[in-house]
Amino acid sequence: MSFPFAPEQASTYALDVDLIFYLLTGLTVLFSVIVLSLMLFFAARYRRGSRVSRKNASTGNIPMELGWSIGPLIMGCFVYAIAAKPFTYVYRPPADAMEIFVIGKRWMWHIQHTNGIRENNELHVPVGRAVKLTMISQDVIHGFSVPAFRVKRDVLPGRYNTCWFQATKPGKYHLFCTEYCGDNHSEMGGWVYVMEPADFQQWMANNGNREIAEHRTLADIGANLYETLGCANCHGSDDNVHGPSLYGLFGRKRNLTNGTTVVADDDYIRESIVNPHAKIVAGYQDIMQDYPVGDGPGFLSEEQILGLVAYIKTLGIVNPTATTTPETRTLKNHPTIGAKPTNNTTTSTGAAQKPGGHAPAAEPATALRAANAIVDTTR
Ligand code: CUA
Repeated sequence: MSFPFAPEQASTYALDVDLIFYLLTGLTVLFSVIVLSLMLFFAARYRRGSRVSRKNASTGNIPMELGWSIGPLIMGCFVYAIAAKPFTYVYRPPADAMEIFVIGKRWMWHIQHTNGIRENNELHVPVGRAVKLTMISQDVIHGFSVPAFRVKRDVLPGRYNTCWFQATKPGKYHLFCTEYCGDNHSEMGGWVYVMEPADFQQWMANNGNREIAEHRTLADIGANLYETLGCANCHGSDDNVHGPSLYGLFGRKRNLTNGTTVVADDDYIRESIVNPHAKIVAGYQDIMQDYPVGDGPGFLSEEQILGLVAYIKTLGIVNPTATTTPETRTLKNHPTIGAKPTNNTTTSTGAAQKPGGHAPAAEPATALRAANAIVDTTR
């Protein structure tokens, strides 16, 4: 079902969204017409000087008043009922959705597939497959919008936002930025290419039809950073005196020093990198330096942070029966740093991308022992 002046319907929920839109528009037009025509009719009929009887003016009519209260109430409930289902559908990506990362920056869309293929202002997806977009902005608020899919979601700095769609027709669809973001806002757009699954496979195998020698996945980028930034010095396969292990972290509940708990999701991990002072895991001290977001040396880009988050997600629970005495633990199972000792507060690692160096604040040994005494009880 299609309507004039509306964009093509090319996603699974486009029709549902349209039906709600046209139902609401229809109801609005209907009641506007009724109210306006009665207004005009009475204004003309009872205008000053007209010779109509003004006797028997109504002072109240219970059935009528009940009618115009209960009628719209029922109608409102009806609209709610039919809109609630698409609403929950639109906001809940299927578990098996293909994940794609989107970074908005003035003035382009940077897109990254989990296997490492990158695109700018273009997004290639297969038809008939649910696609979940995890989006963040590197500067100001942008709006990711594909009218043919009825997809529109704010892309915010400092927070991951997601949306999903499943394209139903192969083709080329407009992609827009729908949030005024500066000089070239109107040019911040591109195309979504919906391909037959076989063509998409071919495109993937062809490296996105690009000649890129390097083909690193987000998790690869993250693993590399984890090593060069020396993250494992404090966050190894087991908890150590400086920081909790990140193995098996994703999706788990963390107890914090302020008595609250938090679920370790993408946003939590991102915040703990960018501003590690915000949420301190119970039993640890606020000693991690922050890694500010930005371009250039000394900063992590959003892409690099996405990489770290992706890598941390891949870390499984390595040693669930580990003892709780940090001194006895080793990092021997760590995939990137091998068999290094744990007491390496001054380890020198490859520092190519080190923003401001990574040195946990030097503490007196007594403070360290005090930290040891309190064991993270969340694990
Ligand atoms: Cu980005 Cu408008």
